[in-house]
Amino acid sequence: MNFDLTEEQIAIRDAARDFAETEIAPTSVERDLTSEFPTEIVKKLGELGFMGMMVSPEWSGAGMDTLSYVLAIEEISKVDASVGVIMSVNNSLVCYGLEKWGSEYLKEKYLKPLASGKMLGAFCLSEPEAGSDATQQRTEAVPEGDHYILNGMKNWITNGTQADVYFLQAMTDKSKGYKGISTFIVEKNSPGIEVGKKEDKMGIRSSDTCTLGLNNVKVPKENILGEEGIGFKIAMSTLNGGRIGVAAQALGIARASFEASVKYSKQRKAFDSTISNLQAIQFKLADMATSVEAASLLVYRAAKNKDEGKPYIKEASMGKLLASKAAVDCSLEAIQVHGGYGYVREYLVERYMRDSKITQIYEGTSEIQKLVIARELLKG
Ligand code: CAA
Repeated sequence: MNFDLTEEQIAIRDAARDFAETEIAPTSVERDLTSEFPTEIVKKLGELGFMGMMVSPEWSGAGMDTLSYVLAIEEISKVDASVGVIMSVNNSLVCYGLEKWGSEYLKEKYLKPLASGKMLGAFCLSEPEAGSDATQQRTEAVPEGDHYILNGMKNWITNGTQADVYFLQAMTDKSKGYKGISTFIVEKNSPGIEVGKKEDKMGIRSSDTCTLGLNNVKVPKENILGEEGIGFKIAMSTLNGGRIGVAAQALGIARASFEASVKYSKQRKAFDSTISNLQAIQFKLADMATSVEAASLLVYRAAKNKDEGKPYIKEASMGKLLASKAAVDCSLEAIQVHGGYGYVREYLVERYMRDSKITQIYEGTSEIQKLVIARELLKG
């Protein structure tokens, strides 16, 4: 498979790198401490086309391919994985789903502002009793006149307190199990929406995660995506692409950990030389570089398959599985290379470790990725 980047892909990667270094890096340490949402940064990302990267220009998107999107998320996440996930959810969960299944009306009303960064979106699938077992939705949507009335509870909602709209799954027919799930676009300012408190997380602290209560929320009938009963299919298909975004985020953290380790090992002296001359350190660097390269090949392959219209469910899960492992392993090793300095906030590697762990949990745990991979392997 040829991974030579086109001039356009290189330009997008470089623009994302430049933006990350000049606009994101200066505040990332402070935002990690205070958990402040990067409002201004997200606004600028929207102006530059990074919030609706793969959306067609017809709907105010940047019309780029998935590989460009992966390169951009990777560069942004190398500097700040919190910003990476905010971008990823808006791009590959909310915008993607709306463009693929939304009516012209929904695209005009919501996709255009979401893709151009004028609105922010969140994806609401998980519930207190429906995490990995996502078919067990309890949130209900009951038709009443020209509306649905929604009741229930969602949790682990990335962008939850900041979003303008929710891409939300609810049961329209409980008797049909997952075939009774439907997807709605719900405005945050709808009466009956109760935004819960922001979670106090171990990592990606500047991103925003909360629960969402729905108490008799009236949602217009035209805000359903497609038709009743296809919501689980929409959620799963959307997550296939979302997993490529999270994999790219993980790749960014892994690469940042590796690069910080190389840099530090060339500066730090011990036993009459820089520690980069010690085999104990060299072996760590070799392992880190190998896992970053292996993960990047899988993630780029998943993106290319998607761009070329080839199957990518298994490839996306493999990419996420390996890249998230690379992020956790490399960030832990980066701390070891830095010794005591790796354990304090002055060096960034302790944040990389805290940020990395979630990539093995959200948008499908590593165990769920293995289940998806195995089912795809055994098909047919
Ligand atoms: N792509 C497309 N369709 C899929 C799919 C996939 N990856 N996985 C399952 N489906 C389809 C199946 O084909 C089946 O449809 P048909 O009956 O029409 O064939 C239907 O979904 C049900 O699938 P299963 O019979 O396999 O159901 P299951 O209960 O045994 O397994 C699961 C389903 C794969 C475990 C699924 O529940 C799952 O992926 N769970 C993880 C949920 C998840 O990733 N949550 C992330 C939350 S969102 C988040 O984190 C966002 C954020 O804010 C960062």
